[in-house]
Amino acid sequence: MINIGILASGRGTNLQAIIEAVEDGRIEGKIKIVISDNSDAYALKRAEQNNIDTQYIDFKSFKNREDYDKKVIECLKEKGVELIVLAGYMRILTPYFIKTCKNRIINIHPALLPSFPGLHAQRQAIEYGAKVSGCTVHFVDEGVDSGPIVLQRAVEIKDDDTEESLAERILKEEHQIYPQAIQLFTKGRLMIKGRRVFIK
Ligand code: GAR
Repeated sequence: MINIGILASGRGTNLQAIIEAVEDGRIEGKIKIVISDNSDAYALKRAEQNNIDTQYIDFKSFKNREDYDKKVIECLKEKGVELIVLAGYMRILTPYFIKTCKNRIINIHPALLPSFPGLHAQRQAIEYGAKVSGCTVHFVDEGVDSGPIVLQRAVEIKDDDTEESLAERILKEEHQIYPQAIQLFTKGRLMIKGRRVFIK
């Protein structure tokens, strides 16, 4: 059983999906801590309701991003975390963080990468006129949403979609592929070779 740490800034529906997957055995791991940069994040409440340790870390009390990330890493280390899961975490990790935890950080993004990285991915897809978008679980590297891809799911974009309606349909798929990707990691089934991730 591996120890999982989750970083989240918002409402935490992906966190909820992961908690449920741990509870019913679809993920063989233990969530040791949920860390947030936002004291109001509903993700923190969800964790508390499930008796998971939480930590709010206030960015304003640190000199710079690297010092902030050092504190986050310290909390993760204290809990023996082996896999770091970003679930709606709205901060970009510093190169220091990524170097320290190489190949042990995964993220979910609401588009089919490498299309539409960064903020408002669903709005970007609609405005571009794409017919298909979706979601991507990927390892985190030094770039923005640019690391090796673990799993993806496609979602059709309908003519009458709004940013919200598309986000909602993509989210349903996120809730399925994120637990699946975490389970593949916990079972040691992911092999990274360059940009490609092979599932053993
Ligand atoms: C999710 O749609 C996730 O893909 C996205 O934020 C949402 C968080 O929702 N993440 C990003 O855009 C990261 N670039 P949640 O808090 O309900 O899990």
